[in-house]
Amino acid sequence: MTDVRTDGQRKRVFIRTYGCQMNVYDSDRMADVLRPLGYAMADTPEQADLVVLNTCHIRERASEKVYSELGRLRDAKSERRAEGRDLTIAVAGCVAQAEGEEIVRRQPAVDIVVGPQAYHRLPELLAEAERKAALRRAGKRLPGAGVLDTDFPAESKFDHLPAPQGVRAGSAFLSIQEGCDKFCTFCVVPYTRGAEYSRPASAVLSEARQLVAAGAIEITLLGQNVNAYHGEAADGSTWSLARLIRAVAEIDGVARIRYTTSHPRDMDDDLIAAHGAVPQLMPYLHLPVQSGSDRILEAMNRRHGRDLFVRLVDRLRAARPDLALSSDFIVGFPGESDADFDDTMRLVDEVGFASAFSFKYSRRPGTPGSAMPDQVPEAVKAARLAALQALLGQQARDFNISKVGATVPVLFAETGRKPGQIVGKTPWLQSVYAEGNERLIGHIVEARLIEGHANSLAGEIVTRAYEAAA
Ligand code: 5AD
Ligand code: SF4
Repeated sequence: MTDVRTDGQRKRVFIRTYGCQMNVYDSDRMADVLRPLGYAMADTPEQADLVVLNTCHIRERASEKVYSELGRLRDAKSERRAEGRDLTIAVAGCVAQAEGEEIVRRQPAVDIVVGPQAYHRLPELLAEAERKAALRRAGKRLPGAGVLDTDFPAESKFDHLPAPQGVRAGSAFLSIQEGCDKFCTFCVVPYTRGAEYSRPASAVLSEARQLVAAGAIEITLLGQNVNAYHGEAADGSTWSLARLIRAVAEIDGVARIRYTTSHPRDMDDDLIAAHGAVPQLMPYLHLPVQSGSDRILEAMNRRHGRDLFVRLVDRLRAARPDLALSSDFIVGFPGESDADFDDTMRLVDEVGFASAFSFKYSRRPGTPGSAMPDQVPEAVKAARLAALQALLGQQARDFNISKVGATVPVLFAETGRKPGQIVGKTPWLQSVYAEGNERLIGHIVEARLIEGHANSLAGEIVTRAYEAAA
């Protein structure tokens, strides 16, 4: 494969990311794998020679979006071909893993289907796709259109991926754990991402050091079940997430540490203590609870009741009183009655969340939930979701307003919607917009919070800190 197009331009890749932060991380790693092949990043699919859709399978709507996007790309590909050029289309991520060949059957314009464990093999897959395209241009009829790799190789992809490259605005994701053995009855992740796997602690620490050298001051440790982390350490012992967080905090230059996503069952004493003991660990925790009803939690196979969650929150808040809690909720799981839903509303009332994600239950083929009786009608799901979101929205607004008047460190990440505005995050992961110089992006600057809204706060950069950083 050459790195120069016939018109003398470099090849360009456009990666569209759907779904969770694991996918955001993976998309960056795919860009890292493609860079040595001469691929520069394109800002739009129109500018690209290769389009990668990094897909999400978690809810039906997420996977259906992929097929409509593929329809548009097929049209673009036909137009290009009429002009004597080509467009390579690759489907990556969880839809690729779950549906494999079915994707090519539904959309024959797809050249490559690559699962999340095989991204290091993208160069070979591209070469193979190129070879097939050349044969087809020469008039050969080939059986089976696309090139597929959805293996779960025994060895980890991490051993084969190049070192991470760019850090955006001081912030970096670091994947430390993949897969899930929990088998919640609504969830496809154990099927698409495979069994739980933790990267060795030394590999994580060396990637963290590389990220810091590349400009990261905030590191978010990622995993489908990140607090189930149990990585092998150099001395043969096993490190927990808490131990790993302490080691990352010792790296010079790490100002902020976050981790996501956690399971309540894996919140151990050490990790709770770390929230009080490690200053760089931000006072924010995303801890999905899904439901406030014991009956539904059991049917979901969450393996804990509402009491355990409430007690956990109490202990976390005892360790770190200003902790902002976030969570995920599903409404309309099969068998959920009005009384079960009321239990969820009461849990939200009792705990108080700074932010949350909530979803209507989506029936996923192959998961136990999809075969359960008493599926909840769509209209009931919609009404419950609206009620829950109204309550969660009110709590998010109240939380934001509670910080008004405080001067807090903000890590600025990007320019805002209005000219002269920059936007960043507080320690509690709230968005703050303020007037400020773009040079502050990637830095932590003190800002006074002056107005609280549903999804953001207005801030004023504190002049002294502003001058020091700018
Ligand atoms: N339907 C609705 N929401 C789901 N989630 C996972 N699977 C489903 C499903 N089948 C939600 C859960 C999870 C989040 C990432 O997505 O709340 O925590
Ligand atoms: Fe899915 Fe449950 Fe595993 Fe989370 S813990 S990834 S919701 S199966």
